[in-house]
Amino acid sequence: MEPTVAVIGATGAVGDVFLKIAAERKLPMKQLKLLASARSKGKVLRYEGPTTVAPNGGDIVVEETTAESLADADIVFCSASSEVSKQWGPWLKERGKVMIDDGSAFRMDPTVPLVIPEVNGDDLEWHQGIVSIPNCTTTPLAMALDAMRQVAPLSRVTASTYQAVSGTGAAAVRELDAQVAAIGRGEAIPTPEQYPVQIAGNVLPHVDSFDEEEDYYTKEELKMRNETRKILHLDGLRFAATCVRVPVAIGHAEVVHAEFEREASIADLVAALQAAEGVEVITDPTKYVTPLEIAGDDRAFVARLRPDRTVEHGVTFWCLTDNLRKGAALNAIQIAEEMLKRDLVFDYAAKA
Ligand code: A2P
Repeated sequence: MEPTVAVIGATGAVGDVFLKIAAERKLPMKQLKLLASARSKGKVLRYEGPTTVAPNGGDIVVEETTAESLADADIVFCSASSEVSKQWGPWLKERGKVMIDDGSAFRMDPTVPLVIPEVNGDDLEWHQGIVSIPNCTTTPLAMALDAMRQVAPLSRVTASTYQAVSGTGAAAVRELDAQVAAIGRGEAIPTPEQYPVQIAGNVLPHVDSFDEEEDYYTKEELKMRNETRKILHLDGLRFAATCVRVPVAIGHAEVVHAEFEREASIADLVAALQAAEGVEVITDPTKYVTPLEIAGDDRAFVARLRPDRTVEHGVTFWCLTDNLRKGAALNAIQIAEEMLKRDLVFDYAAKA
């Protein structure tokens, strides 16, 4: 049986990439429904992949997200906002549908699996209707750490990120482009709307809001810590991050320091990374890839892996992925594929 699939946020930055990847991978579906806010009602988007009702793809009219437009969906991908996820998640769950959520609303809910299929696909087995995908900075890091911990148990991780503006959404990409164009023309920069200050030619040590109850770490930094612990099933992992926004369109990069409980040689760590599905490790210590080069690629990359001799059993490395693909849309589609393969979409409540 093939599912009817609905995408909430189809007109957004992640929605756009979702449509491309679903078509590339020929995600099995009876029908595809594209949903957004009332503002986009009637807009037409093209889907190039096959569905049962349109085997050659075709134009799809965007509908407003309502109980009516969601009524016949079996799997709903949601990439809009936490408010939208909270509005529809419980509603979909009550009706026995599956929501695969790109937002942070349910990620730390103990009844909701938080999944990277290559790392913890087995957690899908206990889903109760809602499955979350990790924050786009958590995903490449958790994939790299999961591979490395096959060599020795992890004891501590610190990370600094270099995050692209598309993580904020399509409007932030337009804001960066407008600022760059204004600089090129020697004109005044339009008043920033997406960030507190100009992002072109700048870097902001500020992603999401500050949490005064957590020593003023930002919510993004706390998401990285909490989500990494949940995905790796390592509740006590010592973890601290600093998240930084940079004037890059696509591709989240990170500098990571990891410590292990016992000796973990670079050779063994490289071998573990080479064996990990979805991970590409660059072994030449003088070579690396940049966000521009990996935009559009499905892999999580690790480069510049070398010892950190300031601590016992420590390493440091550069890691990055396309935040819209593996960081969001691709991971969501892989979850749907895995759930279909494991027969976890239809009548899941009866099987639990
Ligand atoms: P719309 O284009 O109609 O505003 P991005 O992350 O690139 O900013 O995209 C956000 C996505 O979430 C867009 O597709 C946007 O639709 C959608 N969206 C925003 N508000 C709602 C809402 N209340 N209900 C459903 N979708 C929404």
